[in-house]
Amino acid sequence: MTTTRRELWINGQWAAAQQHAALYSPYSGEEIAIIAEASPEEAAAAIKAAHAAFQEYRRLPAFRRSAILYRVAELIAERREELAAVVELEAAKPIQAARAEINRTIETYRFSAEAAKAITGEQVVMDAAEGGQNRLGFTIREPIGVVTAITPFNFPFNLVAHKVGPAIAAGNTIVVKPSEYTPLSALLLGELFREAGLPDGVLNVVTGSGAVLGETLTSHPLVQKVSFTGSHAIGEIIQRQAGLRRTTLELGSNAALIVDEGTDLDAVIDRCAAGAFGYNGQICISLQRVVVHRSLYSAFVERLSAAAAALPVGAPDKENTAITSLISDKAAERVTSWVEQAAAEGARIVTGGKRLDAEAGGRNVYAPTVLAEVSPSSNVWSEEVFGPVVSVLPFDTLDEAVAIVNESRYGLLAGIYTPNIHHALEAARCLHAGGVVINDIPTFRIDQMPYGGVKDSGKGTEGVMYAVHEMTQLKLIAFHTGK
Ligand code: SIN
Repeated sequence: MTTTRRELWINGQWAAAQQHAALYSPYSGEEIAIIAEASPEEAAAAIKAAHAAFQEYRRLPAFRRSAILYRVAELIAERREELAAVVELEAAKPIQAARAEINRTIETYRFSAEAAKAITGEQVVMDAAEGGQNRLGFTIREPIGVVTAITPFNFPFNLVAHKVGPAIAAGNTIVVKPSEYTPLSALLLGELFREAGLPDGVLNVVTGSGAVLGETLTSHPLVQKVSFTGSHAIGEIIQRQAGLRRTTLELGSNAALIVDEGTDLDAVIDRCAAGAFGYNGQICISLQRVVVHRSLYSAFVERLSAAAAALPVGAPDKENTAITSLISDKAAERVTSWVEQAAAEGARIVTGGKRLDAEAGGRNVYAPTVLAEVSPSSNVWSEEVFGPVVSVLPFDTLDEAVAIVNESRYGLLAGIYTPNIHHALEAARCLHAGGVVINDIPTFRIDQMPYGGVKDSGKGTEGVMYAVHEMTQLKLIAFHTGK
């Protein structure tokens, strides 16, 4: 068997790198590819190519930018099954979830194609101020130049699309550095976009893992904006390195849900299990904390635990698998030690709390775990687990539930199930998060909706048109009409 070897995609072609590293399947541990490890000089070459391409690309009309993005969406749709298999292989994403990600990616590029044709400014009422009479004022949105995107492993197609689509729609050029765990998906994009008619140099993909590579992408003088999705710790470093450059930082959370008095548990348990354990909990809005009205608490804990224990465990390429390998040894070790810590601090492990490698036939498989009576100071409650672990606590009044949810350094999405309209509106107003989902779990995202957090969940907003706004410069045109 010949191992796939991937180089860097710079200026519309493959550029051989000096260094390479092996990529391994998270599930089997087998080598699946040899991937370029870009040096800072190679990353700088990609940035320079993007900068050179910007001088022409910024003038490409909106209808042409849109057509390229529509064509990419079509090309991805034609290769849906093949691309889903790449995600399944490199990310250990259960195949059904991998297919769902490809479907969302198609949508994201379609939304980007639509956005390219809808980038507008507005009229400014100049004569609302003395001195503004006889002037016509309006704003336009201009592309900003080279954007760099640093993307995570958990949605290797769609979270790349959330940066590439808006950048290309806006008339910018981009250098993408995908997660070192999942480079294969992003590396497919160069050829797809070239086939769709994207000029050379507009999209570049560099792979690798070093801190110096990252610093080149965040602080090179030709870079105008850095868009990052990943951990809070890395986000802080990026913000420091980027200085006054624009940044969008999507930094995860410990998403919480309130299950209010009177909620019909029959209608919510499966959704809660999907939110907590989908892709092994490796989603920034995974349901990690649930506060349940005391009248429902015991039944909720018992039924969620039964749903968790029933999830099929196995290889990611098996059609019915729900639970499979975490992305790395390090991730599995972290989840294991955090659950042990929670138990030592008084939590009750209702189900899970152990490795299932043998049952799954693979590496780093952690059982879907439900914890009750967790101490709010335990990491499984206060930090982002990024694993299949959900913690449940009881509450008596809505004020108390809101206070428990808000007592967190994070705030991306929060949710409430309630039959009480006043409680729904109160929660919508008082939950401190980038979004509040009413009568569904917070593990909810469609790709055009605004998506961004408060507190340590980051800054800036994604969701295609919102990202376009963050990747364009608002410019005022003040026209002195003379009369
Ligand atoms: C994320 O994990 O950051 C994104 C979640 C999603 O797009 O569904």
